[in-house]
Amino acid sequence: MGRMGVTLAIIGAAATCAIAAHLVAKRVRQRANWSRALAIYHDFRDGCATPLHRLRQVVDAMVVEMHAGLALEGGSKLKMLLSYVDNLPTGEENGLFYALDLGGTNFRVLRVQLAGTEGRILQQEYEEVSIPQALMVGSNEELFDFIVAELASFITREGEGFHPLLGRQRELGFTFSFPVKQTSIDSGNLLKWTKGFAIKETVGKDVVEELQAAMGRHKLDMRVTALVVNDTVGTLAGGRYWNEDVMVAVILGTGSNACYVERADAIPKWRGVLPKSGSTVINMEWGSFWSSHLPRTPVDDTLDADSLNPGDQGFEKLISGMYLGDIVRRILLKMAEEAALFGNTVPSNLFIPFILRTPDVSAMHADESADLKEVTRVLRVVFKTQASLRVRKIVVDVCDTVAGRAARLVAAGVVGILKKIGRDTVGNIDMARLKNNLAGKGRKTVVAMDGGLYEHYPKFRTYLNDTAVELLGKEAAEQVAVELSKDGSGIGAALLAASHSQYSSD
Ligand code: BGC
Repeated sequence: MGRMGVTLAIIGAAATCAIAAHLVAKRVRQRANWSRALAIYHDFRDGCATPLHRLRQVVDAMVVEMHAGLALEGGSKLKMLLSYVDNLPTGEENGLFYALDLGGTNFRVLRVQLAGTEGRILQQEYEEVSIPQALMVGSNEELFDFIVAELASFITREGEGFHPLLGRQRELGFTFSFPVKQTSIDSGNLLKWTKGFAIKETVGKDVVEELQAAMGRHKLDMRVTALVVNDTVGTLAGGRYWNEDVMVAVILGTGSNACYVERADAIPKWRGVLPKSGSTVINMEWGSFWSSHLPRTPVDDTLDADSLNPGDQGFEKLISGMYLGDIVRRILLKMAEEAALFGNTVPSNLFIPFILRTPDVSAMHADESADLKEVTRVLRVVFKTQASLRVRKIVVDVCDTVAGRAARLVAAGVVGILKKIGRDTVGNIDMARLKNNLAGKGRKTVVAMDGGLYEHYPKFRTYLNDTAVELLGKEAAEQVAVELSKDGSGIGAALLAASHSQYSSD
């Protein structure tokens, strides 16, 4: 070999060595990244852990906070608000009832014709009306006049099959989803407007009086018999109408909350005459529940700090549909930044808050295809990225961790409520209570659930139900049923207008 040949051979060997060294270094880097990604995930998973003993502490903390919130106003982060609903529908209601649902830029008017236990809901109709922007920031009278004018026009279109009973006023349940200090079943003062409404004069006023006054101005002969300020209360009424064993209602949607039937004599902060039924519905506002036993990770801390309401709604931020997707996004972002989960550059969409929605999490979590096709699709569509199969698997694990923690905590919350009302153990149902109309009649206790998280997330639902059985034990769990109650809250206000009718005997 000439000198030239030797030089070339040396250069060739050096290049091969360099490439090999580069490949080895890359492999070493990849391995280090993968170990780092696993370590981040394992840390997160450990922080989210909900072993049974911990859930039992959450159950007990829920019970303690419920007592504290019932003892006095501000006694707990759990507000335990009185709803003044002390009659729930029984199914025996008869006649035509209306509901008006105001809680955003659209309002809904609805009518139902009820025909007792045999006929039940003969007919129902509703209409949705959007509120002109100007009226949301205009005058009090203009807003209520507009609403009542639409309601009056809806009434004129009462078709075949809708009949007010002779000589009776039409009655209406008013759902008003804004912060209100309720003072009775048919009165409550607006504390502040939210959701884009800003009409100074209404603040501090009784919204039922305002609505009733507008009805007067329109010569509309109608009476507001129930003010419903929370969707859980409507859900409870809707569930109870069909099933007398419904004692608890839970909403698991964008937000989360629960209400339940409580004995009036177990509410020390109650002022005034106790209701005839002996019980009343408590709106827990459980989204703001907090306990040091709740498993919270640094990811949850930053989610809270970056939120519109830091320090508030701590339980809701662990369990509700609004947040689950963003918790998953945040942990994936951490793994992308610190362990190159999606390669050397972090996909820019991973930085966008709330870009990953809970339905996407549900879809990835449910993916049982060998190559995780759905995960590939969501990563492509939402984050504009792709990933190897082992990365896609870890994405599913993250979804499982986040949804599993949420579902198990919801189960603990529900069992807390059951424990508070003595429905968590076999044969624990106090027979004396069964005599009053609000306490349910059967030996079962039914929890009415509404909201997309329960309805459209099968793995979440399974975790929730299984955990409830784990906590209650098989035998006691047989006395409890969780039932989907779809849009109970819509019709719930009309049913509450019926159960609080001025014509009913109690
Ligand atoms: C609100 C509750 C409401 C729940 C379900 C929560 O964010 O605080 O008042 O019942 O969402 O819609």
